[in-house]
Amino acid sequence: MPRITRMVSQGIRTHHCGELRAADIGQTVRLSGWVASPRDMGALVFLDLRDRYGITQVAFDESVADELRAEAAKLRSEWVIHVEGTVRARPDGQVNRSRETGEVEVLASRLEVLGRAETPPFELDSEHVSDELRLRYRYLDLRRDRPTRSMVLRHRILLAIRNAMSERGFLELETPILTKATPEGARDYLVPSRVHQGKFYALPQSPQIFKQILMVAGMDKYFQICRCFRDEDLRADRQPEFTQLDVELSFVEEEQVYAVISEVMAEATEAARGARPALPFPRLTWAEAMLRYGSDKPDTRFAVELADVTELVAQSEFGVFSKTVAAGGRVRMLAAPGGAAFSRKEITTLEGVAKEYGAKGLAWAKVAEGPVLEGGSSKFISAAEQAALIEATGAVVGDVLLAVADSFKTSAAALGQVRLAVGRKLGLVDDQRLDFLWVTDFPLFEQDEETGDLSPAHHPFCEWHEERPDQLEQDPASVLSRAYDLVLNGVELGSGSVRIHDAVRQRRIFERLGLPGDEIDDRFGFVLGAFRYGAPPHAGFAVGLDRFVMLMAGEDSIREVIAFPKTAQAACMMTGAPTEIAAEQLAEAGVEVLTSEAPSV
Ligand code: AMO
Repeated sequence: MPRITRMVSQGIRTHHCGELRAADIGQTVRLSGWVASPRDMGALVFLDLRDRYGITQVAFDESVADELRAEAAKLRSEWVIHVEGTVRARPDGQVNRSRETGEVEVLASRLEVLGRAETPPFELDSEHVSDELRLRYRYLDLRRDRPTRSMVLRHRILLAIRNAMSERGFLELETPILTKATPEGARDYLVPSRVHQGKFYALPQSPQIFKQILMVAGMDKYFQICRCFRDEDLRADRQPEFTQLDVELSFVEEEQVYAVISEVMAEATEAARGARPALPFPRLTWAEAMLRYGSDKPDTRFAVELADVTELVAQSEFGVFSKTVAAGGRVRMLAAPGGAAFSRKEITTLEGVAKEYGAKGLAWAKVAEGPVLEGGSSKFISAAEQAALIEATGAVVGDVLLAVADSFKTSAAALGQVRLAVGRKLGLVDDQRLDFLWVTDFPLFEQDEETGDLSPAHHPFCEWHEERPDQLEQDPASVLSRAYDLVLNGVELGSGSVRIHDAVRQRRIFERLGLPGDEIDDRFGFVLGAFRYGAPPHAGFAVGLDRFVMLMAGEDSIREVIAFPKTAQAACMMTGAPTEIAAEQLAEAGVEVLTSEAPSV
């Protein structure tokens, strides 16, 4: 009997589970979904019927046939069922205001079981489920309210972005997945070729080279919502495969890129949050961001800033300061509001943050009435220096001064992180705020502090500001690129640049990076070739969409907004990927495995 009815209905619905309201009372409806919280109270069986759209309460009371109620009593959590019934008002005391369907329930007159379920490995409404279980049974996890909402939000954002780009005349064009390495600073994922034994494709770290070549091809305005693959250390905001909004435009400079990306992100924010952020987004140069916030992705939602007090403490009796200055380092300081109340333990915790980011320690002193400095390193700091430091940091009585003395990079990074920790600790960060920020004029190169080797700060296709004709060769570390980042609430949302569109200039960069001529031809000959056939000036950008959706959803990890994310060890808990491959398949691909490791997750 159930078998026949199943074939008849296939669970076809008149409404979904988030739809019924008081206006529907009296209607006969058919609903399908998953059973949640079945309650058998003898004469009365209740359950919640859940689908992507919501939850509707279904009742089997004394008025329904005994057999039907007996069938209902057998239902278990996560069974898939179809019910037919009449919408009725819930009695006054039982209205559920927190649920959109909470004024009504469906009094069932027919029930079909469409699919049984084993007892789920975790309670779907529990807050405390291990990440491992959630990822292994991601299909159950995604049935939960919060992940479902994140998926819906992701779709809304991607759709808004697609529409916004298309309305502005951009073409969505796909670029290859099986391709040749594009340098973005991570390791490549490689795919062996069966046809060309011993040769490999690389999965794209980004479509960077293809999008530039599309400009040479005259496509003018390109975008793509594309997957990128990077074999790098994973963190809460990094996955081995992730999604970018990738953009490139011809005959433009920085301003046109800022304008279009700002508008599109404002529209995407409106789709997610219902309100459009104010335009234009503020801007900071990289140098200023490092100086004031100790970060190239500053969280500007709270006002604490760093002060560079190097000059003020150059002659200090406090050797930690004066010796660092003498060795060419910097001393940076911030005033934590009300921080004089911090215990020693709290200061030690902040020092731990500074040390994690490379500092040797965190100097401190409290601002007491006077104002004068008290405690910590204050006894080594002269009265004149104390007054100068209080003024430079804008500190007031009751604050604590925190300082890192180290190289330019470490003093910025370490105190920048202390600043964030202070902001979180003191509850200074307004969670409701969305602070978009353009950071501009990045250095062109990063220089290894020990070896002096240069690597591109972004990628090797960025144009640069040339203040002197030989600056690139003579003083590369001082060269600023025409690269820019978009930051949201202290998270790097995206990066881009004005590109080099001249083969000679592009070759100059590769040479400056120390690539031998034959390697340049081998790896990038096709790009240089394209530039020789009429390349327009062009510029572009890429937004990390997982990060944007994460911020819009108020989540802490991009894993929460990806349907099937990987673990920190780049494994898929559900499928078990990566897996070993059968010997024949390896032989076919011409691959021999030299080492194999016990899988770790
Ligand atoms: P970039 O390498 O800065 O630039 O990447 C752009 C943005 O992509 C996001 N992102 C990631 N998101 C999740 N997991 C990762 N592993 C990951 N890596 C990067 C970040 C980042 O800001 N081709 C250039 C763009 C250009 O110049 O046009 C590029 O890919 O949000």
